[in-house]
Amino acid sequence: MLEDCCAFELTTHVDSRGSLTVFEAGKEHWFPIRRVYYLHSIPEHASRGGHAHKQLKQIIIAISGSFDLVLDDGTARKTFEMRGPSYGVYVCPMTWRDMKNFSDDAVCLVLASELYDESDYYRQYDEFLAAVNRGGRSA
Ligand code: TYD
Repeated sequence: MLEDCCAFELTTHVDSRGSLTVFEAGKEHWFPIRRVYYLHSIPEHASRGGHAHKQLKQIIIAISGSFDLVLDDGTARKTFEMRGPSYGVYVCPMTWRDMKNFSDDAVCLVLASELYDESDYYRQYDEFLAAVNRGGRSA
């Protein structure tokens, strides 16, 4: 459900040498992290995402630059403006996501609860919607 996805501020320590932002799973919620990946060198006008996950939980952070993250649970849609490295969004399972409007310097960091598993994906929106309407997470 979209209400289960939420934005949060990561703790940032700022001093004369710059800033250090920290995420501690377990302390600031949710799940042990089993995989980290990041999107970078994204061409102008490219979009990413375009899928949902059956089980996977993720945290998305714009560690550099900016982009828009659109989340859709099959009934409602919400856009998060990813504009800083201290701002994270938790994306719960069964949420369709699209990412667009990347700035030149955008780097999108993703913290994920599981290893990569293609069978966990819905890559067709109509299949995702059908699963939502069945009320389950099964394929
Ligand atoms: P894709 O799902 O299309 O990326 P995005 O969600 O950003 O639009 O993934 C691009 C390619 O990378 C695809 O061939 C699958 C592969 N991939 C991995 O091998 N491991 C991973 O952890 C991820 C996220 C993708």
